[in-house]
Amino acid sequence: MNTLLLDALNSRNEKRPPIWLMRQAGRYMPQYQKIRKKYSLLEMFHDSQIMTEVTLLPIDLLDTDAAILFADILSVLDGLGLDWDFVEGKGPVIKEPVTTQTKFQKKTDYSHTRKAISELKKSLNVPLIGFAGAPFTVASYMIEGGSSKELKKTKKWAFEDPLSFHRLLNTIVDATIEYLNVQIEEGVDCIQLFDSWAYLLNPQDFKSICLPHISRIMQSVKKKVPFIIFARGSCYFASEMISLSPHCISCDFGGSIADVRKQIPAKIALQGNLDPALLLTNPKTIEKQAKRLLYEMQGQKGYIFNLGHGIFPETPFENVKFLVDYVKAQGS
Ligand code: CP3
Repeated sequence: MNTLLLDALNSRNEKRPPIWLMRQAGRYMPQYQKIRKKYSLLEMFHDSQIMTEVTLLPIDLLDTDAAILFADILSVLDGLGLDWDFVEGKGPVIKEPVTTQTKFQKKTDYSHTRKAISELKKSLNVPLIGFAGAPFTVASYMIEGGSSKELKKTKKWAFEDPLSFHRLLNTIVDATIEYLNVQIEEGVDCIQLFDSWAYLLNPQDFKSICLPHISRIMQSVKKKVPFIIFARGSCYFASEMISLSPHCISCDFGGSIADVRKQIPAKIALQGNLDPALLLTNPKTIEKQAKRLLYEMQGQKGYIFNLGHGIFPETPFENVKFLVDYVKAQGS
């Protein structure tokens, strides 16, 4: 078993940094595209065999130090009884956006999730990362009905009627804890929470709107497996993140990970934060920036090499392969 990731999460990795990449299974892979032609995304996220197969693609083709379950942050909506789908060129769509009147009713037993994880655990020799969306980010899709640049409806609700907004977030927290417990029961080795839209809040609002709910999820998870928190904006929210005391903070590409390292206690590990746009370039350019990042994090026992956000679909596969091989060649 490759334990680099778990060692780094516990800030006791003496070897080279582990590497895995956000959105490591996706459209930049011809093998993924082939599967995607045959099924709708919704089918892919609900079929244990496809979930298993796609989770394994980056392990087979890139040999990363961790696998991440092929699912989506919207998967938890099944636990709230909301219908969701993906529309070509538009992204996720929630059929009936949530209002104060919405009644929630669980519509899944997550048997596909259970089956996929138990199958994966039989064949993987690297850790399996489970995940969910953070409550604010999940709420934003539920309220806006899909992707939105400014989250106007969500923020209006949060600022105007905090009581009912927090009630909604509490409902999402309960569903998320249940969904993550399914993943943990089946054997995922750690959990990452994605707060992709948190950067649209200022630090005070992040603290009052997002933090208590992330904290409740984390308290439930942390007793069982290591916990990683990712937010776009995490470099700016470093002090708020520290107050959570997670195992690891995953940094987006918008700030200096070396500066964050100076601010946080040694027992908190760091992950990130190469700009995913670099992977659109060429090996020479990628090597230069990867080398700089590795130099900045040299000797850190709690460092996990990753991107500051997910891989773009247009990324040439060879560039991703080059990066993984380059990082893995360090210290070997
Ligand atoms: O990282 C991985 O490889 C694991 C699987 C994973 C997916 N989504 C599969 C997926 C993970 C961890 C996610 C998280 C996710 N999903 C986030 C948080 C991370 C982030 O990127 O900020 C968000 C905001 C979503 C919601 C979502 N899912 C959007 C906005 C979209 C459409 C836009 C896009 O990137 O294509 C998705 C679809 C989705 N989820 C794809 C994949 C591989 C693309 C599938 C396709 O078109 O074939």
